[in-house]
Amino acid sequence: MGSAFRIHLGTDSPGTSHFSLILPVNHIAKNNRRRPKPSLPPIEIREMQLKDIPAVFELGQELFTAEEMPTLYRCWDDHELAELFNTNGETCLVAEANGEIVGFALGSVMEKPRNAWRYGWLEWLGVKKGYKRRGVATRLLNQLINLLIDKHARIMLVDTDARNHAALAFFRKHGFGQELRHVYLSQNLENHPKYLEKKLEEEETQL
Ligand SMILES: CC(C)(COP(=O)(O)OP(=O)(O)OC[C@H]1O[C@@H](n2cnc3c(N)ncnc32)[C@H](O)[C@@H]1OP(=O)(O)O)[C@@H](O)C(=O)NCCC(=O)NCCS
Repeated sequence: MGSAFRIHLGTDSPGTSHFSLILPVNHIAKNNRRRPKPSLPPIEIREMQLKDIPAVFELGQELFTAEEMPTLYRCWDDHELAELFNTNGETCLVAEANGEIVGFALGSVMEKPRNAWRYGWLEWLGVKKGYKRRGVATRLLNQLINLLIDKHARIMLVDTDARNHAALAFFRKHGFGQELRHVYLSQNLENHPKYLEKKLEEEETQL
């Protein structure tokens, strides 16, 4: 097999198990439809712009809810989004329908010193309710892969919560494999002596 893309999907926080998946570069993702569905307005996939940040952030808040996706919920914040856009704007894509942002794929490229491999990361992916199962994420992914290849990435990595069956089905369908389980652990610091000491200090300062 030739080179491969590696995508990282969503930074995550302690307490959950994640899968990482790898995509062979010669795999071409396809958009197959099983049955006709009500028509939607035309959807344009384009590079994200500064003005899109609030709409992308809002859509992420709709998708990454505390109930359904607690780990993604914890990590999705406007500072991270702005930082990713500032550093990797060329690999941040949005899907737009009638002037509304209905999807996003936020990727980045990582290069290690003294390592010939360049990695493509898909850090965040989301499609608005009502636009799912219409091939929007497939189009975002395909366009992102093209951009990453243009930037000489050879591996693409994604990762997602092991219980995120929709995302896992999506990535497996598009050729990602070599799944590795990664376990996050957490510790409540509120009982740590340093934490208690600091809390006491702060309470005394307020008196
Ligand atoms: C995962 C997600 C991005 C998929 O977006 P989408 O636009 O609906 O995906 P597509 O229409 O391109 O789906 C392509 C294929 O992926 C698979 N797939 C997508 N969603 C699926 C689901 N809920 N259940 C099973 N398979 C699914 C199917 O094989 C689908 O092809 P089909 O519709 O012809 O059966 C979307 O469900 C989403 O936004 N989820 C919430 C956010 C999230 O979990 N992001 C990933 C972590 S950052």
